[in-house]
Amino acid sequence: MKFTSKKERWGAKKNSRVQLAVVMLFAIGAGLMVFNFASTRKISADANAAPKAFVMTLPKGLPADLYKELIPKDNPMTAEKIALGEKLFFDKRLSVDNTVSCSTCHDPATAMADSNMVGIGIENKKGARNSPSVFNAMFNEAQFWDGRAPSLEEQSKLPIINSLEMGMKDHPQVVAKVKGLSEYAPLFAAAFGNEGITIDTIAKAIASFERTQLSGNSPFDRFMAGDKKAISEAAKRGWDLFNNQGRCISCHAFNESTPFFSDFKFHNIGVAAKDQNFAALARRARSFGSDNLKAVDELALSPGFSELGRYLVTKQPKDIGAFKTSMLRDVELTAPYMHNGSEKTLLDVIKFYNKGGELNPNLDGGMRPLKLTDPQMDDLVEFLKTLTSDDTRRRMKSVKPQTRAPFPK
Ligand code: HEC
Ligand code: HEC
Repeated sequence: MKFTSKKERWGAKKNSRVQLAVVMLFAIGAGLMVFNFASTRKISADANAAPKAFVMTLPKGLPADLYKELIPKDNPMTAEKIALGEKLFFDKRLSVDNTVSCSTCHDPATAMADSNMVGIGIENKKGARNSPSVFNAMFNEAQFWDGRAPSLEEQSKLPIINSLEMGMKDHPQVVAKVKGLSEYAPLFAAAFGNEGITIDTIAKAIASFERTQLSGNSPFDRFMAGDKKAISEAAKRGWDLFNNQGRCISCHAFNESTPFFSDFKFHNIGVAAKDQNFAALARRARSFGSDNLKAVDELALSPGFSELGRYLVTKQPKDIGAFKTSMLRDVELTAPYMHNGSEKTLLDVIKFYNKGGELNPNLDGGMRPLKLTDPQMDDLVEFLKTLTSDDTRRRMKSVKPQTRAPFPK
């Protein structure tokens, strides 16, 4: 099997599915607004105005059908909600000491991730896991490395009250704090009418903003659309290795309808197996009564327990040390790698795979030594670099890195 271009692989598909940009309308009221990032800061705060229709242009390579399908029925996109969500995402006052926002760890200047090994929250507290990018997170079948949150809405409620991240005590405290910030009342009224400020409307707004954070339009997308010159010969050899000798495609699945390089399943590839006594950890995790999401969320970021991965969610021994297959778009820009940030460069990642991962009792059956030569490993890296979005690169150049407010002693 050898795939060289989208045309060959998807030759039978009809043309309409290869449209470059697809306009999506979520029209609730009258009026039309073309959404762009510059406009989101100034939003109408008039509660009586009809919610604005929202137009989203998808970047090249992303599936419009799936995008539409993944907008929850009870949380349609509106310009007001997206703008409110963006403001919340960047607001440090959502943390207990006003020092950290979502964007501290998901920074547009770092492809909506950060460059630390693990997330660093209030008082410079370290969690045990690497911050993934928020780009395309809306396409995840479940959120987090272990899939413990089913949706972006549920996901966004957790970091705010995680003791190592934003540190608020509980959701009532979060709601009370946002209610105390006077500029928010009219913005929530415009976005949610009578629903007002609740943890659910906060979450819905943040999730709506995240659904505008997309990454496509990469050299690889142009290559798949038929531009043979869009990627180098080395990258083409790398794409072939990705599909064949490297066996990457078996987990980092790619097809036209889900072009994200993930099967969204959980595999133990051995990253967590370094220095772990899984059986002892699992026994201790069970004794923690991790029945509610908040408890699992705290365990997930704790050293040791973190390495149990999917097991924390399912309590199935087969899931010990298993983590969600990462999506690979923009991967060049989001070092270090893996759930614990243990691999510094893409070449380090490939070397890890080349030796067959780290042996342990739960190692995924798909992992085995690959016998790739040094030039072949370089080709794979060249291929991975073709997944970098032109838009992401441009945006990274145009924004200043987020700053962390110094925490009060
Ligand atoms: C202190 C750093 C930090 C802060 C603050 C933070 N995050 Fe994260 N975020 C992380 C880390 C680390 C993970 C992975 C944790 C895990 O999987 O257990 C993550 C995971 C996610 C994911 C899942 C992505 C995926 O591919 O599974 C989303 C979405 C997300 N964060 C959005 C947010 C939002 C929204 C906020 C603010 C309400 C926020 N984050 C605040 C560090 C942070
Ligand atoms: C058996 C399934 C499987 C196979 C085969 C596989 N991967 Fe992965 N990949 C994963 C999982 C699961 C993770 C996350 C693991 C973790 O952090 O513990 C991952 C993580 C990665 C990451 C890190 C992404 C990030 O943002 O941290 C890269 C890069 C990567 N894989 C590339 C590849 C390449 C290239 C190949 C082929 C040589 C490959 N993978 C083969 C399942 C797989």
